[in-house]
Amino acid sequence: MPCGGGAVKARGVKSPNHLIARRAGPLKGVVRAPGDKSVSHRALILGALATGVTEIEGLLEGDDVKRTAAAMAAFGAGVERLGEGRWRVEGRGGLSEPADVIDCGNAGTGVRLIMGAAAGFDMVSTYTGDASLRGRPMNRVLKPLGEMGATWLCRAAGRLPLTLKGGNLKHIVYRLPEPSAQVKSAVLLAGLHAAGGAEVIEPEATRDHTERMLRGFGAEIEVREAGAGRHILLPGGQKLKGTAIHVPGDPSSAAFPLVAALVTPGSEVTVLGMLLNPLRIGLLDTLGEMGADLSVTNVREEGGELVGDVTARHSALEGVEVPAERAPSMIDEYPILAVAAAFASGRTAMRGIGEMRVKESDRIALMAAGLTACGLAVEEEPEALTVVGSGGRVDGGGKVVTHGDHRIAMSHLIMGLATERPVSVDEPGMIATSFPGFVELMRGLGAEIE
Ligand code: S3P
Repeated sequence: MPCGGGAVKARGVKSPNHLIARRAGPLKGVVRAPGDKSVSHRALILGALATGVTEIEGLLEGDDVKRTAAAMAAFGAGVERLGEGRWRVEGRGGLSEPADVIDCGNAGTGVRLIMGAAAGFDMVSTYTGDASLRGRPMNRVLKPLGEMGATWLCRAAGRLPLTLKGGNLKHIVYRLPEPSAQVKSAVLLAGLHAAGGAEVIEPEATRDHTERMLRGFGAEIEVREAGAGRHILLPGGQKLKGTAIHVPGDPSSAAFPLVAALVTPGSEVTVLGMLLNPLRIGLLDTLGEMGADLSVTNVREEGGELVGDVTARHSALEGVEVPAERAPSMIDEYPILAVAAAFASGRTAMRGIGEMRVKESDRIALMAAGLTACGLAVEEEPEALTVVGSGGRVDGGGKVVTHGDHRIAMSHLIMGLATERPVSVDEPGMIATSFPGFVELMRGLGAEIE
């Protein structure tokens, strides 16, 4: 099915009303996590910016990433699905003006990275998304892009829908005010086509897939650790060359079956080929400190990233203090960590997690509400969440409101596999944004989710 110029259509996510998870036997088996979402978005975008062919293996075929594939076709790249997870992108050495609005659905990473890439070109492009994405702050990328010379018009300050005009960008030295790999990546992608390039300074290191992948596409990029943070220097006017990309398993998705095994008595689950980038595995460190029986084997390098097979066995967990500086390396994993904490003995305090409030939902508020509805005691603060562990016996019985947030839905379904009473979640169709096949994969391990 070859398709260019807007022919890759991302379908909307259909939502069944709710799903219910209930306690059954132990979970057993070996699974492969879906492709990493961050790497998948970047592979498509860099493939479209490059000249020549990029062949991608293991692409995450979730709704978020399919929106980015459709967007890259709309910007003029040839985008073709060759088979399951196998995609071919033919880049034309730049993006051209799209004929229609770019709808990024639920994908914050998609829209922010695409706006960065598009800002480098003298053209107008208009972006929108679903209700969740339209409510999320875009100022964090618009501010640096504006300093570089891009302009925009939006309906409500810093919110989608918005129209961006790019081109003739100038050099920027930008210190990230919040730890955000999306903002860093947007500035670097714009910097590719800025006179003099770009320098991003991050006080706290965030996931570095853009830097690694830019190198893979032949770009020159320098990373310097200095007293005041990590400096990423990208010279401007660089040409990217298409390459081959193998997308590793997403640690943010692998976290669900792994934590399910930790909290469900008698379980042992292995996830094969999980990305072990040190800037993504704060959850493994935290679970290890909680006493989780985790082992990592067969560690190898694939396409410039470390991957390995991770096995989790049911464990008696202890509450811990999660250091605030660990937040960037596990920012998407706090919801499932809160579930592990619910089964632990003692308190688990998660601090420095204010960024969770501006994800697909306010994840601090929704985890606090969901855990409370399942009989747990929690303490919510503006930038922190503390869960008072049950010591292993959680009531459950909650009817959880997810606000269409995939990770809130999956976290509570995992909890329901080990609670006394079933747990139900609404809007479970949104799980397909990041983990298509989640329910089937969990059922294959022995989970009862219907
Ligand atoms: C992502 C960065 C993180 C993360 C998101 C994916 C990325 O967001 O939460 O799911 O691929 O760069 P922030 O950059 O807003 O922290």
